[in-house]
Amino acid sequence: MTSITGADRFVAQLDRVLRAVTGNIGQTQRSSPSNSLQDDKLLEEDRLKSGRLMRVNHCGEVCAQALYLGQSLASRNRQTVKVMSQAAEEEIDHLSWCEQRLAELDTPVSYLNPLFFAASFSAGIASALVGDKFNLGFLAATEEQVVAHLEEHIAQVPENDHRSRAILSQMKDDENSHRVQALNRGGLNFPSAMKRLMTAASRLMTRTTYWV
Ligand SMILES: [Fe+2]
Ligand SMILES: [Fe+2]
Repeated sequence: MTSITGADRFVAQLDRVLRAVTGNIGQTQRSSPSNSLQDDKLLEEDRLKSGRLMRVNHCGEVCAQALYLGQSLASRNRQTVKVMSQAAEEEIDHLSWCEQRLAELDTPVSYLNPLFFAASFSAGIASALVGDKFNLGFLAATEEQVVAHLEEHIAQVPENDHRSRAILSQMKDDENSHRVQALNRGGLNFPSAMKRLMTAASRLMTRTTYWV
């Protein structure tokens, strides 16, 4: 029987990263919450709007993969690494659902994915190097912002685009449970000034990937 080495894991992760950035993740364990819903024909302007919103969320999920990868590679706490890897597995579903919906909406993934992947990966490494409490707190604060952002997008999705809304709602529930899990494991509760700074930084991603 062959055993899985660190190098094998690294190659598998690298493969996943490349597929994530280019929009080629494909099917994952949990099927999309939108699959059971009818694919209503959208007006052209609604299709465009939904496509742009889902492109932002797809990039957000690419960033989540980058962040978890950076955080787990630089963390010295084995338990935290395990939690991060588990969460990254769950996040892969989100990436796949967004990818599928983007294809349905005939919208390409963002050209800026590699750029935001690199920025999030660096933030993940830096956060892990500060220490475990900070690392988990950073994750919790990030998820808190993602939940708030998803609430905004759920309200903005065109009324009859039930499929995109179903995906975003399930993602919101999952992100919130990641937030709670990180805090329960001892993550630092970041001060609001720090969270506001993080929100301002994330606007750079959400405002640009809406268009390209
Ligand atoms: Fe996610
Ligand atoms: Fe998450």
